[in-house]
Amino acid sequence: MTATAWHNPLRDPRDRRLPRIAGPSGLVIFGVTGDLSRKKLMPAVYDLANRGLLPPGFSLLGFARREWEDQDFAEVVHDAVREHARTPFREEVWQQLADGMRFIPGDFDDDTAFEQLRDAVDELDDKRGTSGNYAFYLSVPPKFFPKVVEQLKKHGLADAPEGSWRRAVIEKPFGHDLKSAQELNRIVHEVFAPDQVFRIDHYLGKETVQNILALRFANQMYEPVWNRSYVDHVQITMAEDIGIGGRAGYYDGIGAARDVIQNHLLQLMALTAMEEPASFDAASLVTEKLKVLKSVRLPADLERSTVRAQYAAGWQGGERVRGYLQEDGIDPRSTTDTYAAVKLEVDNRRWAGVPFYLRTGKRLGRRVTEIAVVFQRAPHSPFDSTATEELGQNAIVIRVQPDEGMTVRFGSKVPGTSMEIRDVSMDFAYGESFTESSPEAYERLILDVLLGDANLFPRTEEVEESWRILDPVEEHWDTLGRPAQYASGSWGPEEADEMLARDGRSWRRP
Ligand code: BG6
Repeated sequence: MTATAWHNPLRDPRDRRLPRIAGPSGLVIFGVTGDLSRKKLMPAVYDLANRGLLPPGFSLLGFARREWEDQDFAEVVHDAVREHARTPFREEVWQQLADGMRFIPGDFDDDTAFEQLRDAVDELDDKRGTSGNYAFYLSVPPKFFPKVVEQLKKHGLADAPEGSWRRAVIEKPFGHDLKSAQELNRIVHEVFAPDQVFRIDHYLGKETVQNILALRFANQMYEPVWNRSYVDHVQITMAEDIGIGGRAGYYDGIGAARDVIQNHLLQLMALTAMEEPASFDAASLVTEKLKVLKSVRLPADLERSTVRAQYAAGWQGGERVRGYLQEDGIDPRSTTDTYAAVKLEVDNRRWAGVPFYLRTGKRLGRRVTEIAVVFQRAPHSPFDSTATEELGQNAIVIRVQPDEGMTVRFGSKVPGTSMEIRDVSMDFAYGESFTESSPEAYERLILDVLLGDANLFPRTEEVEESWRILDPVEEHWDTLGRPAQYASGSWGPEEADEMLARDGRSWRRP
C-alpha cells in the first residue's frame, strides 16, 4: 500500500473542508481613519480573529496623519469593532488582537514615519513572531498610490526578507479611465511583482458571487441551457436605496458607471458568461474572465444603448430626501451620473446576439443586487392563448443581496377546471438551507491576502479591459448636456425603460 493510501483525508491540507488559517503575519492599513477602514476592514480583522482564522501573533498597524498613540488607535478599532463586527464581542479575542496593534503617525511623504513603520515591523517580528510577512493595505485615494508604494520601496518595506512575503492590497477606484489605470499599474508594478498585488473588488468576496461558479460548474442542469439557444437576455442590477451620503468628494466626477459598473458589474457579468475554467486557481479563472471581457462589445449607437441620470428629490423610507444636486459638496451644475444603464453584447459562440443589460443607481426603490438570466419563450404552446397571456418568460435569478439565494421562475397550472397557466417561483434561500451565516466579503478577502490566495482578486488585465469597455460610454456622455433626472425612491429614469422597450423587453422590478 502506498503512503497516500494511508492518508487520513481529514488531515490532508488539500481538503477544502478544513478551515484555512493564516500563517504568521501582520497587516498595515494606510488610510486607517477612513470610512472603509472603520466600517469594514477593522471589523473584518476582528471577525477573522474571533473565528480563529488568524495566527495568535497577528499584528495590525495603522498609518495616518493623526497624533495618536497605540492606545488611541486601539480605542478607535475597539469602537469600530463594537459597532460593526458581525460576530459577538469576546474580551479574550480582543485583548490578544489589541496587544499586536501599533500606530504610526505621519504623512505619506514623511520619511521618519516610514522609518518608524519599519522599526515597528521589526519589533513585531521579534515580539509576536510575524516572521516578516506583511500586507500593506492602501485604503487611500489613488492619487496617493504612487507616493505610498515609492516610500515602501525606499524604506525597504516592499522587499520581503528571505523566506517571507510582502503584499500590496489596493482598493478601487483603480484609475478613472484606461490611460490612468495603465499608468497606476505601471507605477505599482515598478515596486511590486504581479503576484504581490491584490486588487480589491469586494463583490468577488461575497458568498453569492462565488456561488455563481458553484451553480454553473458543480451542477449538470444549468449549463446545457446557459447559452444563446435558450437565453433571451441577461439583466444585472445593482440598486441601492442610499444616496451619496458624505462621499461627495469621492463620488462627484466619478459617477455610478465608474464607481460600480467598471468593476463589480463587469465582474458579475464575466462570471455569468465565462466558460468553465480548467481549474479553480487564480490563473485559470483570470483566463476565462478575461476572454469574456475581451469579447464584450458596445452597440454602435451609444445614444440608444446607454442611459445616465441623476436622482432628484423624492420620498424614501417615509422620509423626504434631497436631490443629488442639492447634496452637500456637490456642484449644482454637476453632470455626474448616479444612475447608469448599458447594453452590452458578448461576441462569442455561446452568447452572440444575447444582450446583457447592466444597471445601477443610488436612491432607487430598494437595495438589491441580482443577476437574472431570462429565457426565450417556449417555441410553441399547445394551450389556449387566453389562458397563458400573463405568462412571463422563464428566468433564473441569482439573488446576490440582500435575501441571498436563487429563484427559478416558470409557468404552472392554476388549480381549477380550465388550463390557466401562471408564473410561479421556486426559491432557494441561504438563510434556510445553511446554519452558518455568510462571512462579510472583507473577511474572506483579507484572509485570502494573508494566505496569498489570489482567486478572488481581479488582475491588471481585467481592470484595463473593463476600462476599455467603459471609456467610450463615458466619452459619449461627456458630449451630452444635463443628465436625465429620476425621483428618489423610484426605479430610475424613463429613458432606461425606453431603452429596453425599444428591444421589446422590460426591466425586472425586484
Ligand atoms: C462600493 C461603491 O464599491 O460599493 C459604493 O463605491 C457602493 O458606492 C458600495 O455603495 C456597495 O457595496 P455593497 O456591498 O453594500 O453592495
